[in-house]
Amino acid sequence: MPTASASESSSNQPESSNASGSIDHVLVEERLFHPSAEFTSKAVISTEEQYEKLATAARENPDEFWRAEALEHLHWFEPFDTVCDWQPPHAKWFVNGKTNACYNSVDAHVAAGRGDRTAIIWEGEPVEDGQPRDQRTLTYAELQTEVAKCAEGLTQLGIGVGDVVSIYMPMTPELAVAMLACARIGAIHSVIFAGFSAESIAERNNDASAKLVITSDGLYRRGKVLPLKATVDEALEKSPTVEKCLVLRRTGDDAPMQEGRDVWWHDVVENQPGQMAAEPLDSETPLFILYTSGSTGKPKGILHTTAGYNLWAKRTFEWVFDHREDDIYWCTADCGWITGHSYIVYGPLSAGATCLMYEGAPNFPAEDRFWDIVERHKVSILYTAPTAVRAFIKWGDEHVDKHDLSSLRLLGSVGEGINPEAWMWYHKKIGGEKCPIVDTWWQTETGGIMMSPLPGITPTKPGSCTRPLPGVVPSIVDELGNSVDSEHGGKLCISQPWPGMLRGIYGDEERFVEQYWSDVPDKYLTGDNARCDTDGYYWIMGRIDDVINVSGHRLSTIEVESALVSHPDVCEAAVVGRPHDLKGQAIAAFVTSNDRGHDDEFRNELKQHVRKQIGALAQPDDIRFTAALPKTRSGKIMRRLLRDVAAGRELVGDTSTLEDLSSLAKLREED
Ligand code: WTA
Repeated sequence: MPTASASESSSNQPESSNASGSIDHVLVEERLFHPSAEFTSKAVISTEEQYEKLATAARENPDEFWRAEALEHLHWFEPFDTVCDWQPPHAKWFVNGKTNACYNSVDAHVAAGRGDRTAIIWEGEPVEDGQPRDQRTLTYAELQTEVAKCAEGLTQLGIGVGDVVSIYMPMTPELAVAMLACARIGAIHSVIFAGFSAESIAERNNDASAKLVITSDGLYRRGKVLPLKATVDEALEKSPTVEKCLVLRRTGDDAPMQEGRDVWWHDVVENQPGQMAAEPLDSETPLFILYTSGSTGKPKGILHTTAGYNLWAKRTFEWVFDHREDDIYWCTADCGWITGHSYIVYGPLSAGATCLMYEGAPNFPAEDRFWDIVERHKVSILYTAPTAVRAFIKWGDEHVDKHDLSSLRLLGSVGEGINPEAWMWYHKKIGGEKCPIVDTWWQTETGGIMMSPLPGITPTKPGSCTRPLPGVVPSIVDELGNSVDSEHGGKLCISQPWPGMLRGIYGDEERFVEQYWSDVPDKYLTGDNARCDTDGYYWIMGRIDDVINVSGHRLSTIEVESALVSHPDVCEAAVVGRPHDLKGQAIAAFVTSNDRGHDDEFRNELKQHVRKQIGALAQPDDIRFTAALPKTRSGKIMRRLLRDVAAGRELVGDTSTLEDLSSLAKLREED
């Protein structure tokens, strides 16, 4: 455990180079923030001993530990016999048990007499007379009826156990209902983020042999209506396995319905009796497929199954978000991403939480929408992404200052490393210096959070996801697969199976083995680099591909980016390597800034700034200014594309997940 007290200086001395092939780290962060005594006194995990006990039990007697967890935290229609059947790389958890993720998320609360508790508070995007036009709350009992009706509708449409249902919907309660209804009957949902193209939908439908698509007429985004159904129609021309399309009326716009194929939600779902019970399902019944981009461009259908995933989502939610009875919890992700699956739907609902769900953009009708929502709904836990935090910084403090954020008690971050300066802003401006920040590291593949502070006990360091959760046994290895010492970066692996782990890539066993289990024997390869400091804190250094090798020093891009972002005039930075005759690789930086002129003076100033922060070694060779960085739709910077731009290559690979293609065009024009 670190013992230093909070201080606000950071010193940055480059480490010397090393021969083992590990990655040098150059950015040293020494600020440390303790939770308040008040926070700790009420926390779910409130002492270091409690954490140690859980972590030790899960590491040393995983079977015993997870048996007790599963019995206490999931409902079992039939008991399991074996806790974990581990035939690397294949795991089966809670073998031969029967449970249901929808039952655990909804019915269990009603059965326990808590049906009147609010499950979902929903707010649509449109605003009329300064107020949100569409708002709904659903209690757990109401959610149960809605989900049962949808399950009845799906059954009527011929959907049953093992059928794949693609869901391409706006962030409405019906999206969560549709997911849960699939889980209720044992159908496999494949949620496709409602910003993807017809081509991407068709690719996913075909890869999974989807039988049904659930969509809506349209979607509100930044005040405009996007015609979802029209996009689905185009996709369905190339999706031969899809038999039916279920359409929710959301915007009321024209949505042509194809006779025999397309049916309205209000015809098929709303008039059902709402009585259908949750089906007892084998623990390993596939729960969902979620497509995530891969290095080759072809998206991978990550497969999660019922019991292990459900338990992991629930317990990690309870541990990390310190969930209490009166919390209003808001995860700003979209259900199209794993964060929405695990921390809008299965995790919080299994824990009986009250979840806020917001349909629209953070800057509609103005840049203060999020803070307006926090104030009106008295949100106590906010979970968002660094890309959003950086956007808020860019938009200006005045939008935050208009609102009373005193209801907040805990903040979370996910999706990317949060640069220390963005962390500090989040801490001060949003958290009022009183809310712990949980920087949660995990992946679509891991099903739920793997490393994170426990907010009641873990002193936080800006930029570190701190320590593994109970049951997570990380190891960091060098190029040769040997463990590296603390303070050295290397490939982050997980060496013990955990309940939420992916069970495969749908329909592609070979790729599953090759991608995650070949490089380092018997360990799950995360694809990220990390280092562990002498306090046992982990620092994610970016994807393995993102390492830059400058004159034999292997540097992580995120450290150089964080140094750039710490300059007051920089909003966002992306750093990549480009070929260089002498050094092997040169450092190319792409920078967005507020009001500064994009001239050589500013360029030089930034180079000097990085030099001062982390040393001459990491000084960027090129700096390009740009209005926006190309990002995936989930907000991650697409470094792969930037590498091509920096090297002057034509763009290659899949760009289907790119959010703003025009930002790429701009990059090429500038400079
Ligand atoms: C990155 C999102 C640093 C990482 C839940 C990981 C992070 C990938 C963090 C997974 C974090 C996510 N700090 N990096 N707190 N959280 N990442 O599948 O590279 O969309 O491998 O899952 O995001 O992204 P995915």
